Order: sequence, then structure tokens, then C-alpha cells
Amino acid sequence: MGGKRIILGVTGGIAAYKACELASALSRRGALVDVVMTRAAQEFVRPLTFAALTGRPVHTSLFHTPGGDFVPHIRLASEADLAVIAPATANFLAKLAWGLADDLLSTLLLALRCPVLLCPAMNTAMLMHPAVRANLQRLREMGYHIMEPAAGHLACGAQGPGRLPEPEEILERIADLLAPQKDYRGVKVLVTAGGTREPLDPVRFISNRSSGKMGYALARAAARRGAAVTLVSAPTALKPPKGVEFVSVETAREMYREVVSRFPLQDVVIKAAAVADYRPRVVAAQKIKKKEGTLILELEKNPDILFELGRQKLPHQVLVGFAAETADLEANAREKLEKKNLDLLVANDVTRPGAGFGWDTNEVKIFYPDGRVQPLPLMPKEELAHRLLDIVREIRTLKTTRAEG
Ligand code: CTP
Repeated sequence: MGGKRIILGVTGGIAAYKACELASALSRRGALVDVVMTRAAQEFVRPLTFAALTGRPVHTSLFHTPGGDFVPHIRLASEADLAVIAPATANFLAKLAWGLADDLLSTLLLALRCPVLLCPAMNTAMLMHPAVRANLQRLREMGYHIMEPAAGHLACGAQGPGRLPEPEEILERIADLLAPQKDYRGVKVLVTAGGTREPLDPVRFISNRSSGKMGYALARAAARRGAAVTLVSAPTALKPPKGVEFVSVETAREMYREVVSRFPLQDVVIKAAAVADYRPRVVAAQKIKKKEGTLILELEKNPDILFELGRQKLPHQVLVGFAAETADLEANAREKLEKKNLDLLVANDVTRPGAGFGWDTNEVKIFYPDGRVQPLPLMPKEELAHRLLDIVREIRTLKTTRAEG
């Protein structure tokens, strides 16, 4: 969302307070957020709140505009990449559905050419009223994107649909609408994520520090670009991304089964998971009790999933591995790339601040089979996911051209 210009229209409903969180989250992700408030919205939240959260002036009037901007609706409209109206009241929807333009926000909406996401929020009875439903249908037919209101406890005390969805969900929809072209449509992508858990006894396991963030970012990015995504995930604290087939596993052997059985149908496999190389040889049926002296655990080797995929790989398939290193990054990376028959190896030195386990950012070097190394700067994992998908797309194009030639 970095550098994207987003108009956040706020109309007069109690859910206006949630729009503050949305404005803040969008700004944190680097978007330039221009908040436009109706008069009723200002009864719920002061413009100053939004100005402080976005670091930008808030627009409230067609006539009294910050910085002597005399036609704010036209300027804002021409610059916007996307507009989101949250909350959108019944009155606002009615005005938009029938083309009324009697304040800044309604006038602006008529001048916009970018995608517009409407997030209706109101009492359930109002939402169910035939006039509101007909207006929503009319707006849908005009090409507006509409988020279904969530169900639950409403400010008026009633229970039912009408709540503004959580800012996190609205953010997801915005990211979908801003996504680059659907260049992965028709492509089957399998991503693995998280750190496997290898049980010792009913209450303990051996695992690693993988948070799953890189793999989840890759799965989300590929789905946004139109891919049919399968995410095979070891346990993480993350919510599965929307629109992906989610396969939950615990151990390396479970991951092996789920990934290897699906491999023949995939076009791209990206193995971001941190797979335990060893598992306890014996899993105790009862909790292991402490005793005097030391405890020696005997570990046996887990299957190397990526090695097996590299062995089975068909010419059109693209296989991407990850390597987390703490020393001799280049030599280890090259060895893995070759041994596992990969098309790309993404290596990170996990001792560097901001890179690897748990961080929201990553700094990696990309190793190619022809010996090239491409260092990438530190960047958010979401952005890195898109960069990696760009590279994978190029490799796919090369493979197709070679096959046709
Ligand atoms: N991997 C795998 N199956 C395993 C171990 C690793 O598929 N049993 C995959 C990981 O998902 C990752 C890549 O292999 O994409 C590199 O993992 P890493 O543990 O760094 O490599 P190893 O070959 O296990 O080497 P080492 O542990 O010695 O660094």
C-alpha cells in the first residue's frame, strides 16, 4: 500500500470510531489517507482525531477547504487510487444510488474514477428495509464494491447483521482491490509455512522459532494475484489467509505426506516452512517424569521434503526453497540449491536484525542455478512476497519459452 492515495469517507454512524483504527492502519502501511467526513460523522468523531492519525488535513466542506484548495472534490478524485466509505449510512447509500451531490463526500463520489469500497453499517431493521436493499443492489450493479456487514451486537442493543466489519477485514479487501494485475490466474501454487512440531510426549515437543509470517505473506500475495493456492502450515499464531486451501499439519512427516501427494498437480511450490530435520526416536505415551542426572534424547532423521520434490520435479514445475543460516550463507545456499534441484533459493542470515524468524521484515539473498546471486534490501515480508512472485513468474516464462523452442 506504500504511496497509494486512499480516500476514506466517513459518514454519520456510531461505527465512525472504527474508521479511526482503519485510518491509522492504512497510514502505518504507507498509504496517503485523505479523510473526508460528512457533517453527521463529525458528531461522532472530531476531524482532529483523523488528522492526527493520518498526518494529513481532513476534508469536511466543499467550500471551506484547507490550504485554499478551491475544488477539493476534483483534485481528490483525480489523485485517488481507491476510496473506501466506512461506515456508509443508509442515507449516504441512498444519495449515492440516486446521484445526489449536496456535500463534499457525495460530490466527490460522483467525480471518482477509481474503485470504491462501500462498508454499510446500521441497525438490522434498517439494513433489511426494502429501500436500503434496493439501493445496495443498484450500487452493486453500478460497479461499487460492497462489504457485507458483520452480524453481532449492535450499538442500539439489537443483535443481528449491521455491524461494520473489523478494520483488519476491511484492510484485506482494500489490499485485494489494490493488488497488481492477476498475473497468476490459472496457476497452482503450494506454499508451506511455520515450524514443524516433533512430539516428545503428550505435552512436549521440539520445534523452532519460525513464525510462519513469510509463508503466509506468500500465500496471501499469490492468492491476490489470482493463483489457486494451497497453504500447508505447521502451527502458527496467524489466521489462514482468505481464499486459500488451508492444510494444517504438525510434524515433518505429516507435512511430507500432504506436500508430496499434492506435488504432481502444482505449477509452483515454495517451501518457506522450517522443517525439523530430526524427531525424537520414541514418543513417550505418558509424560516424561524428571529424574536425577541428565536426560538423553535420541533423535532420528526426518525425511527431507524439498529433496524429494526436487527428485520428482517435472520440467514445467518451479521449486523454491528457503534457507535460514547463521554462518557461511553463500556456500550453504549454493549447496542446498544444487542438492535439492531448486529453481531458486531464498537465503537469509537469521542473525541480522530485521531478518528471519518473527520479524515483519526480511533481508534475503536470492541464489539462481546459473550461479547468479541477487541481494535484496530489507523490506516488509508482504513486499518481499510480491518480489519473489515476480521472479517466479519470470522463471515460468523462461521454462515455457524453452519448452516451446
Ligand atoms: N526442508 C524440507 N524438509 C526438511 C528440511 C528442510 O523440505 N526435512 C526445506 C525447508 O522448507 C527449506 C529448505 O529445505 O525450504 C532448507 O531448509 P534448511 O533446514 O535450512 O536446510 P537443510 O537442508 O535441512 O540444511 P541444514 O539444516 O543443515 O542447514
